[in-house]
Amino acid sequence: MNVLLIGSGGREHALAWKIAQSPLLDKLYCAPGNAGIANVANCVDLDVGDHAVIIQFCQKQNVKLVVVGPEVPLVNGLVDDLEKAGIAAFGPSTKAAALEGSKTFTKELCDRKNIPTAQYQHFNNAPKAKAYVRNHSMPVVIKADGLAAGKGVIIAQTVLEASNAIDDCFEGEYGDAGAEIIIEDFLKGEEASMFYLCDGEAALLLGAAQDHKRVGEGDTGPNTGGMGAYSPAAVVDDKVERQVMDEIILPTLEGMREMGAPFKGVLYAGLMIDDDGPKLIEYNVRFGDPECQVLMMRLENDLLPLLMATIDTSLAAQQVVLNPEPALTVVMASIGYPGSYAKGTVILSADGLNGDNCQIFHAGTALQDGNLVAIGGRVLNITSRGKNVGEAQARAYQLVDRIDWPQGFCRRDIGWRAVERENG
Ligand code: AMP
Ligand code: GLY
Repeated sequence: MNVLLIGSGGREHALAWKIAQSPLLDKLYCAPGNAGIANVANCVDLDVGDHAVIIQFCQKQNVKLVVVGPEVPLVNGLVDDLEKAGIAAFGPSTKAAALEGSKTFTKELCDRKNIPTAQYQHFNNAPKAKAYVRNHSMPVVIKADGLAAGKGVIIAQTVLEASNAIDDCFEGEYGDAGAEIIIEDFLKGEEASMFYLCDGEAALLLGAAQDHKRVGEGDTGPNTGGMGAYSPAAVVDDKVERQVMDEIILPTLEGMREMGAPFKGVLYAGLMIDDDGPKLIEYNVRFGDPECQVLMMRLENDLLPLLMATIDTSLAAQQVVLNPEPALTVVMASIGYPGSYAKGTVILSADGLNGDNCQIFHAGTALQDGNLVAIGGRVLNITSRGKNVGEAQARAYQLVDRIDWPQGFCRRDIGWRAVERENG
């Protein structure tokens, strides 16, 4: 089978690496890909926003499955258009992608299906929103309704901060995404992400992970797309796993079917977990980045049959087998990220370091004049497995130290929560 993967991040490199191992695969294409993906796939320079171009490419190259990595093409209806053209595609329809594309949509679904989540109010103008926060306890969480590229969530500690955040949203800081906002209660607890393959009817847990969103050690500084992750997450025990499936995931799938928008693809539940049980923070309708990297490092199944089963509604017959060893990934980013950073800096000695327990997944990399260069904020994902998180962490940092890239940096404490737990 020929497969086309859409995307260019570390998530897509991990997916490409895994798909490339499938005995079912003939040819793997990736649009647009990156320098690491080019080692396992044919990178093609297609305009992902032009669905007709993608369809034409698939027809010409006899592509039987398109795997969509990022959220934007999902929300923009790439899967719908491919399906209309008779090409199987992994990912939700544009209607079902509203679970990520609109926070109000998800909150209303939670109301209807009684799914545990933070209390909230929806606003489409600043004065009413400001009046609401004046009488609200602090902290309070302000969220732009639409897709804001991982930004658009402000945890305000004071009424002034909340009012400023409300102004920012309505004054266009997040573009159209901020034309409507929700304001919700601050949830306490420990965060975890859980990933479910869904075929509209059934859900299959792929695994749980913890991300490190802040740029600085000790979870300080501005939010990023994610500076590192590990899987499994100890906070997700058997009880939490059952609760999330029964109280959150299955009611969501039922609600989506009731709306005539069955959810197919991978559902990423961002959760806050405390003694009262798990609460939904948000949904994403794609794999997490960098969480996907640790999931792929642990997944023992052939990925292609699992992806196909989400499309032909046969997930109930599938089982996920994970390597029991934890996996951890450290993100190396360009100095300055998540603010501005230099592009085109040369990375020496990043390849040739992979082994059985270690993989370097590329994100913002390209080959220029024979040099591997950084062209993005997040650039490399140093990923490893170990008998516990501590060992996986030590292995990952050993590799980090062998990468010669003076203009790069990483957090040195990825996995700290798990390692603290392991060390008692
Ligand atoms: P999101 O973009 O919705 O994932 O939000 C970004 C981050 O903000 C989450 O990973 C949480 O750490 C935090 N967050 C979002 N909503 C809440 C909430 N209601 N209570 C506490 N933290 C939250
Ligand atoms: N790592 C967070 C995300 O993929 O949204």
